[in-house]
Amino acid sequence: MAGIRPSQAYLALDMTDTAPLASLATDLTGGRTSGLRFLDDAGTLAIVLDVTGLAEPERKPLEEKLRDALLARDEVTSVRVAMTAEKKALTIVAVGSGKGGVGKSTLAANLAVALHRRGVKVGLVDADIYGPSLPRLMDSEGTKPEAQGSKLVPVPNAYGVPMLSTGQIAAPGQAIAWRGPMAGKALEQLVDARWGAVDTLVVDLPPGTGDVQLTMIQRHKPAGAVIVSTPQDLALIDAARAISLFEQADVPIIGLVENMAGYACPHCGGVSDPFGRGGAEAAAGEMGIAFLGRVPLAIGIRLASDGGVPPAAGTDPAGEPFHAVAAKVADWLDARKAR
Ligand SMILES: Nc1ncnc2c1ncn2[C@@H]1O[C@H](COP(=O)(O)OP(=O)(O)O)[C@@H](O)[C@H]1O
Ligand SMILES: [Mg+2]
Repeated sequence: MAGIRPSQAYLALDMTDTAPLASLATDLTGGRTSGLRFLDDAGTLAIVLDVTGLAEPERKPLEEKLRDALLARDEVTSVRVAMTAEKKALTIVAVGSGKGGVGKSTLAANLAVALHRRGVKVGLVDADIYGPSLPRLMDSEGTKPEAQGSKLVPVPNAYGVPMLSTGQIAAPGQAIAWRGPMAGKALEQLVDARWGAVDTLVVDLPPGTGDVQLTMIQRHKPAGAVIVSTPQDLALIDAARAISLFEQADVPIIGLVENMAGYACPHCGGVSDPFGRGGAEAAAGEMGIAFLGRVPLAIGIRLASDGGVPPAAGTDPAGEPFHAVAAKVADWLDARKAR
């Protein structure tokens, strides 16, 4: 090496030999590294590690693994890892209805649980400021979310679906007095929280089609909306209003779910149709939107829900209609991703 000063030798090394280091880093982190370069002649290496989508406890070990592997190389004396995380755009699935009491929250909770069981990294937001009921449905009443910095940490539950609810951040009864700006701010906190690995949020919206709903939809731009209706004509008129609200805000409709469709007799198991059958499906067809399925009126659904056990969480046949709806929603989300 006579005649070559060390720094020149190093420069030559830098130009030809960072490739093996970069590919080592790529292999080790599943392609999360970029910008690998030496900062000086002394072997100080800089590298960018993208930790987007990784939960807090997964980040540090990955960084250490990367650092150790690079330090093990002769040409590397120290490593500076810059961790970055893209501010992830959460995919929001809004669950809406034209009026209350149609089973919107029941559907939202079971849809989230069923999506989780299909492997979707899903969280649940209870944005129904008028009647937050998801803490009850998900058996996490009385658990307040903690704050980390300026952000809320979603509350875990037995069903694997972290959740935030207006019911958790307001005293009972207080929620009802919330008006536009305050409601908007509260919802902001629920959506812009420390969701960790969650990439998809099911949001239980307030029933109805007023300004509060429109503001929420415009601000949080759901990827799509699921509309819940009961079979009666009047409820379907409300559903049509909800659909036009979403269309007004350019939110695609994933489809319509008919809840309390037919009555499942607890004695004989037979399903009868006090409100007629097929009305919602026909109405969906007329409005040009997909029909996602019907959930029967079943005492088991109400009892399980009141008891904090979403039917979709178990093996009870009562959960099946929710799994069928979730399969269609998951397909819709996959197709959207592929676009
Ligand atoms: N398919 C169903 N069968 C039986 N009870 C149901 C069904 N869907 C909802 N319920 C019950 O109806 C009530 C209202 O449902 P909920 O989901 O709170 O409606 P919303 O959120 O639209 O106001 C709850 O007591 C719930 O358990
Ligand atoms: Mg509700």
